[in-house]
Amino acid sequence: MCGAEMTTDIAMSAPQAATKPNPNAPTSERVLSVHHYTDRLFKFRITRPQSFRFRSGEFVMIGLPKEDGKPLLRAYSVASPSWDEELEFFSIKVPDGPLTSRLQKIQPGDHVLLGKKPTGTLVLDALTPGKRLYMFSTGTGFAPFASLIRDPETYDRYDEVIVTHTCREVAELKYSQELVETTLEDPLCGEFAKGKLAHFTSCTREDHPNQGRITTLIESGKLFETLGVPPLNPETDRAMICGSQDMIQDTKQLMIDAGLTEGSNAAPAEFVIEKAFAG
Ligand code: A2P
Repeated sequence: MCGAEMTTDIAMSAPQAATKPNPNAPTSERVLSVHHYTDRLFKFRITRPQSFRFRSGEFVMIGLPKEDGKPLLRAYSVASPSWDEELEFFSIKVPDGPLTSRLQKIQPGDHVLLGKKPTGTLVLDALTPGKRLYMFSTGTGFAPFASLIRDPETYDRYDEVIVTHTCREVAELKYSQELVETTLEDPLCGEFAKGKLAHFTSCTREDHPNQGRITTLIESGKLFETLGVPPLNPETDRAMICGSQDMIQDTKQLMIDAGLTEGSNAAPAEFVIEKAFAG
């Protein structure tokens, strides 16, 4: 789950004097920085407890205490790679969203709740070996890929890594653009990513050199033409998909049409999916 505002609350009982501390209770982490991209998207970084381990591409529960003190948590993909000392998240702002209406107001020094059990299927281990890795994202669905493109292991496993990001407006592409640029210049990741990482952006509601939904661009062949690569092939290509439910279903169908099989942690195969939240 790659974004924000899922509909399930995690119900936890209020602390009582006689109750033992809950070992699974979220920890309280300090906000280190916040950056707003548009009136719909922002990123924030928080402290990472030493005990917090995750695989690049996984998601975790993030939240704030409610008025009654109970935690209000939503699934967020960790956008930072597993080697980073801090944790980064990329979030939507939903004006009447129970969590994001408040979360969008956090400032450095504030505290947010961090769940203890990262999980997810957008991980390298859920795919069988291949030559070329596609990461298809829309909106905040880019978050797990922000983690994976900064992980040297991604480049150990693939000769080519192609991350696509499609948004309604040009300004919403800023986070992925900045991130790919800094990754290529990063002293650790840059040397792995250079010559292997390609970034493809498209826009659906504003003028952009690549116009249209990613599904349309796959179907028309424009994506492959622009990148200078052959059409999807199950022998060589692997894919990860993260976006809205509809985007996932449509992109997944195109993978199946191309002969790729869906994988999971338990049964790795040729593509994997995870939902991002649009509010
Ligand atoms: P569109 O503008 O044509 O709806 P959102 O912000 O609503 O999550 O959308 C993010 C991007 O995902 C938008 O560019 C949107 O295009 C695109 N999108 C929405 N539905 C689909 C779909 N079924 N398949 C592919 N892309 C989609």
